[in-house]
Amino acid sequence: MRIYREDDYCAMSRRGADILAAQLLLRPDSVLGLATGVTPMGMYRELVEKNHRGELDFSRVRTVNLDEYVGLAPDHEQSYRYFMQRNLFDHVNINPDATHVPDGRARCMAAECRRYDQLIEDLGGIDLQVLGIGRNGHIGFNEPGDEFPLGTHVAELADSTIDANARFFASRDQVPRKALSMGIRSIFQARRILLMVSGREKADIVAAALKGPVTPRVTASVLQLHPDVILVGDREALSGL
Ligand code: F6R
Repeated sequence: MRIYREDDYCAMSRRGADILAAQLLLRPDSVLGLATGVTPMGMYRELVEKNHRGELDFSRVRTVNLDEYVGLAPDHEQSYRYFMQRNLFDHVNINPDATHVPDGRARCMAAECRRYDQLIEDLGGIDLQVLGIGRNGHIGFNEPGDEFPLGTHVAELADSTIDANARFFASRDQVPRKALSMGIRSIFQARRILLMVSGREKADIVAAALKGPVTPRVTASVLQLHPDVILVGDREALSGL
């Protein structure tokens, strides 16, 4: 695991953007696995600026997002499709048809899970997967459990996840209780993983995930076994390593 220890959130975001840009220079038609949340927002801003300066071309990029809330329409302000449009896709020269987010309003969730796994396979797998980490150690919405969820699945959000995500909704009651999430298999099969972490409140879980036992109780711990993980964090988040 390569570790980049950056001074603060801005420096972490710039480093993440440089790594992602290098990936697209080497392979302009990369399949990118993307995450939402506060952690990658600064990196997306940097990528938009690189694109506007003519340094980065998204025209051949394909993307698959990690997750989506069950029940939220794509134009709902808290949906992850909306997040991606607002933070990245609407501002760069990406082909809209090449951007994929699970459909949280699918009529049959089991079929949507199968479709999403098949889609990732048909794209040839993920070249670079961007990840954040939840306070309970989740990646995507692979919540703590007795075993690693392998395929795309409907996740029951843990109480701590609902608490953490309530800041984006008018009240805790409005946070959806379920989400569609890519499973550990697709994440783990990504050829390269870019794990981004920021803030003191992540320090304990980052240390537990990367130094503790590999266990489905902390799903990010599986990353210890992946051959090509790049960890980019600010000093606070990496203070326990
Ligand atoms: C988001 C996702 C989640 C977040 C994690 C950290 O698509 O899959 O696993 O990466 O909850 O969220 P932030 O960055 O908001 O702390």
